[in-house]
Amino acid sequence: MGGQGIIHRYGPWLNIDRSHPVSLGEGNTPLIAAPKLAAWIGGGAELHIKYEGLNPTGSFKDRGMTTAISQAVTEGAKAVICASTGNTSASAAAYAARAGLKCFVLIPDGKIAMGKLAGSIAYGAQVIAIQGSFDDGLRLVREIAETEPIALVNSVNPARLEGQKTAAWEVCEQLGGMPDWLALPVGNAGNITAYWMGFTACGDHACPFTCGHRTKRPRLLGAQAAGAAPIVTGKRVDHPETKATAIRIGNPARWEQALTALKESNGHILAVTDVEIFDAYQAVARLEGVFCEPSSAAGLAGLRKAVVSGEVNLEGQRVVAVLTGHGLKDPDSALAGSGKILAIPATRDDVLQTIKVNG
Ligand code: F0G
Repeated sequence: MGGQGIIHRYGPWLNIDRSHPVSLGEGNTPLIAAPKLAAWIGGGAELHIKYEGLNPTGSFKDRGMTTAISQAVTEGAKAVICASTGNTSASAAAYAARAGLKCFVLIPDGKIAMGKLAGSIAYGAQVIAIQGSFDDGLRLVREIAETEPIALVNSVNPARLEGQKTAAWEVCEQLGGMPDWLALPVGNAGNITAYWMGFTACGDHACPFTCGHRTKRPRLLGAQAAGAAPIVTGKRVDHPETKATAIRIGNPARWEQALTALKESNGHILAVTDVEIFDAYQAVARLEGVFCEPSSAAGLAGLRKAVVSGEVNLEGQRVVAVLTGHGLKDPDSALAGSGKILAIPATRDDVLQTIKVNG
C-alpha cells in the first residue's frame, strides 16, 4: 500500500510509525506563479499559489490522513472517527477504505458542500449529520474516542500534523528557499500549526532540505471568516456563520498553537467578510485559471485586505498563498455566481449571434 506519497518521500523526517503505510500518492502539488492575481491583490508582491486541491481527495487533508490512518493501522484500530466541515471526512473515508477500516464521520447538518458529502458517501463512510456545529461534533468524537475502540483522526491527533507539515517543505523545495510570507485560511487551526512545524523544523536536521533556515523564516498570514473569527477577536464564537463552510468553526482545537505560530513568525491574522472571500474566489479562477473552493480563497482575501489597509507591506516580497481545497468540492458556490445559462437552437447562426468574441 506504499504509493509515492509523502510517507515515501519524507518518511525519515516524520515522527510516525511507518510499518504500515497507507497512501494514495498525496502531496507533490503544484506551486503556480500568479502574476495577475498579484496585481489584483496589490502591494507589489511576487505571488505563488500552492494548489492543495490537487491532492487525491481534493484537499490538503490527505497529507495528514495518510499519516493518521497509517498510524491507526499500526496500532491495530478497526475503525476511525472524525468531526468535519467536509474535507476531513472525505479524506478519512478514502484512506480508511484503502486500509479496510470502518469510518464514521460527524458533519454539521446542511452545512457542508455537496462534493465533500458525495466523496464521503462514495468511499463508504457512515455519515452522521448532527444538529449542531463542527465544534459540537469535535467535542462528541473526542468523548467517544476516549471510551470506544475507535481512532480519532481529527488534527488533535499528532500524526495528522506530522503529515501536513510536509507542505511547508514542498513550498521551500519548489521555490528554492523560504517564502517571505505564507497566507492561508484558518479554521480549526491545524494547518497553520503544521506549516509552522515544517518551517521551524528546517535547519534542525528534522527537515530534508537546507533552504534559508535559521536565518530566515516566513511570516504567516492567517485569515478567518468574519462570522467565525475567534482567534482574531480572542473570543470563542458559539454560533459561527459563514458561507465558507469549511472554516465555519468557533472554537479551534489548535488555537494556542496558532497563536504561538503567529507570534513566533511575526505574523498577522485578520477577519475577511464573505463578500471579500467570494471576490477572491472568483479572481483566482478568472485571472489564473485555478479553481478552489470558497474557504481556500480566504488567504487571498486576507492578503488583499491587509495590503489595502496598510497592515502589511508586501513590496518585493515572495508570497505563497495556500489554496486548501478544489473548487469542484462546492459546485453550488460556483453556480450561484452565474446567471441563467441560455439555451439556443442548435444552428451556426444562433451560435454566432450569441457569442461575442470581442465583447
Ligand atoms: N481550507 C479548507 C478547504 C478546509 O477544509 C479547512 C478545514 C481549512 C481551510 C482550515 O484548516 O482547520 O487546519 O485551520 N477543514 C476541516 C474539515 C475543519 O473538517 O475538513 P484548519
